Amino acid sequence: MLRKLIIAGNWKMNGSRQMAEALIGDVLAHYKVDAKTQVLLFPPAVYLAQTAQLLEGSAVHFGAQTVSEHTSGAYTGEISADMLQDMGCQSVLVGHSERRSLYKESNEDVAAKFMAAKQQGLVPVLCVGESLEQREQKITLDVVLGQIAAIIEENGVNVLENAVIAYEPVWAIGTGLTALPEQAQQVHQAIRQYVADLNEEIAKNLPILYGGSVKPDNAKQLFAMADIDGGLIGGASLKSADFLAIIEQAQQVEK
Ligand code: PGA
Repeated sequence: MLRKLIIAGNWKMNGSRQMAEALIGDVLAHYKVDAKTQVLLFPPAVYLAQTAQLLEGSAVHFGAQTVSEHTSGAYTGEISADMLQDMGCQSVLVGHSERRSLYKESNEDVAAKFMAAKQQGLVPVLCVGESLEQREQKITLDVVLGQIAAIIEENGVNVLENAVIAYEPVWAIGTGLTALPEQAQQVHQAIRQYVADLNEEIAKNLPILYGGSVKPDNAKQLFAMADIDGGLIGGASLKSADFLAIIEQAQQVEK
């Protein structure tokens, strides 16, 4: 086994204290920790303290859904990487397509957030992906590789060490449409090749997750693909039975 499979739950703006307690309780009770998988939770920031407490001493990691590019100061409403690290986060999502489209985060903003996370020793999960229109125009790889290039052109490929990429075709997020395993694999392979051309070792160790309507009934086929190293799961991560079923599917993958 070259890379662990990462099963990450992105709760987005959903949940409550009660839900967090129940869901995390279920995950801890039923996830049979093994060497093949890493489970990671991204609750809303207000529940990070509770999450930290519930997960203390467990093998499950957690993080925030976004981070400020600034270190501290007059940025009302923002949360710094330093604060996330202080709360015990190991990771943070950057550049989720909802942040890019609804909050107008540019590739440059995402690169700055990515670097802010790295500087605090957080593992950034860089989300990339094309819209339906871009796929139809056959510019998927230009878009996706461009989003990655925005990070490494400024900072060098070494910043992808201890980082994760999540390929999430925008047309598959929350729509019930999932990329076919082969369709996703094509993009994942292109991403790994792009990084390998710059540094083979980093490419070999780089986890590339798939996101976009991952469900218990399609997870295994996706995770079985050579360059798909797990999933970033939205809707299905809110129901513990579905999320646990996806984790189990990952544990059954042989590669
Ligand atoms: P979805 O969301 O699983 O609900 O499609 C995935 C994501 O946005 O990370």
